[in-house]
Amino acid sequence: MKRALFYLITLSILTLGLTQCGSNTKETGKPYSIVDNAIVFDEPERIEGQKSVLQFSVDPIDTVRIGFIGLGMRGPDAVNRMTYIKGVEVKALCDLFPERVENVQKNVLEKKSLPRAAEYSGEEGWKELCQRDDIDLVYICTDWKNHVPMAVYAMQHGKHVAVEVPAATSIEECWQLVDVAEQTQRHCMMLENCCYDFFEMTCLNMAQHGLFGEVIHGEGAYIHNLEPFWEYYQGNWRLAFNQEHSGDVYATHGLGPVCQVLDIHRGDRMEYLVSMSTPSINGKKLAKKMMNVDTFANGDMTTTLIKTNKGKTILLEHNVYTPRPYNRLYQLTGTEGFANKYPIEGFTLKGENLPEGMVPDHEKLDYHDWVPQHIKDSLLTVYKHPIVAEIEELAKEVGGHGGMDFIMDYRLIYCLQNGLPLDQDVYDAAEWSCIGELSAASIENNGMPVKMPDFTRGDWKKVDGFQLATKK
Ligand SMILES: NC(=O)c1ccc[n+]([C@@H]2O[C@H](COP(=O)([O-])OP(=O)(O)OC[C@H]3O[C@@H](n4cnc5c(N)ncnc54)[C@H](O)[C@@H]3O)[C@@H](O)[C@H]2O)c1
Repeated sequence: MKRALFYLITLSILTLGLTQCGSNTKETGKPYSIVDNAIVFDEPERIEGQKSVLQFSVDPIDTVRIGFIGLGMRGPDAVNRMTYIKGVEVKALCDLFPERVENVQKNVLEKKSLPRAAEYSGEEGWKELCQRDDIDLVYICTDWKNHVPMAVYAMQHGKHVAVEVPAATSIEECWQLVDVAEQTQRHCMMLENCCYDFFEMTCLNMAQHGLFGEVIHGEGAYIHNLEPFWEYYQGNWRLAFNQEHSGDVYATHGLGPVCQVLDIHRGDRMEYLVSMSTPSINGKKLAKKMMNVDTFANGDMTTTLIKTNKGKTILLEHNVYTPRPYNRLYQLTGTEGFANKYPIEGFTLKGENLPEGMVPDHEKLDYHDWVPQHIKDSLLTVYKHPIVAEIEELAKEVGGHGGMDFIMDYRLIYCLQNGLPLDQDVYDAAEWSCIGELSAASIENNGMPVKMPDFTRGDWKKVDGFQLATKK
């Protein structure tokens, strides 16, 4: 009897101890556990036969044959941009609605005297598009929830994939993209166009030339009042998603360009984040008006702070509801200098680090202020990224957010045509997209730290620094 009592007490103490230092996913009812006061999502093992796609490349594809899925507000411009690139064929077009397909046939392909593309429509038409054997690349511009099912199916049918932002909406979906890319050995690039904006490309080049010293902190945001757009998303998919999800659901525009400067998974990695959000006031009003519902999960303003393995920090903001000027922040703080894009574009730099001849009197450069306009202009010229210099004129003519979208498409095709690794790999897609669910988990637990999954499964130190590949 005494012994039984002893076992009972010991078992109770052990159980109590275990629940205090960690609760498993079953207890939280969520896809994560809480261990030592941090949220930890499960990290699946790499299955046998699956191979890393870090620095992955395929044989050169001289003519890149593309099938497009999703021809709403974003898709038709993507088709149009691709018609300006040599060695591209628009093979197939797909949307829920045949009239959207016809619109692109007429207003893009016919206008440029290009052959009509094969047409698909309806809920499942995209599957037939992916099954074709004359397509190299499937380019996805649908609502967020369709991205991963379509990307996975396309890769499983031998196609490379380019998918709009965010590539995935949950941690489970991020792993699916990584695993299927590794299993099928196909490219899966997220179309993070903000990495290719002119100022960001110049700053990347300046950072890589050491002008900012060691970059220790970066900031990025998606602050864009979407009021004029809400009613145009097909079937209200975007507001419906935000109505159900808290967190920074659209983090990639702010995060992508900063991660490239910080060499994320090319020597450093994002290790954990904390996130907080305000109440939803305008979001709730919108949801009442457009969906006749009384709840709205997404806070009007969401702020997330990320820490990297090397101890660097990244601040992210998301707000698509309140009146504010458009802002992606894009800010780099380095030991020797500073760059900022919104709302004031400029640099603060130590004069002695500037190229010879740029500053006649180094003593006169005030480190407390922006560099004067003429020095900023010189920096933008001298450090213009060589890739931008190569294609700038055409990019500005074709457009797409002022040209950055075209530079992105141009780079995607250039790398495929030259058998090079793509600028953004599937690990970038997963790392930048996973912020949505991770920040939601932190918010739902009073700002508790969340461990970020290592989608490279330990390979993040293997590549030394981020590079945009060019042919030798
Ligand atoms: N990178 C950028 O700057 C940028 C800008 C805008 C939008 N986007 C992204 O582009 C994507 C599309 O956004 P949008 O504004 O064009 O939305 P949208 O609602 O205007 O267009 C989505 C299109 O997908 C189609 N679609 C939905 N389900 C489909 C299916 N089963 N088969 C075929 N087609 C289907 C719809 O009919 C619609 O035409 C989103 O992921 C969004 O985040 C990116």
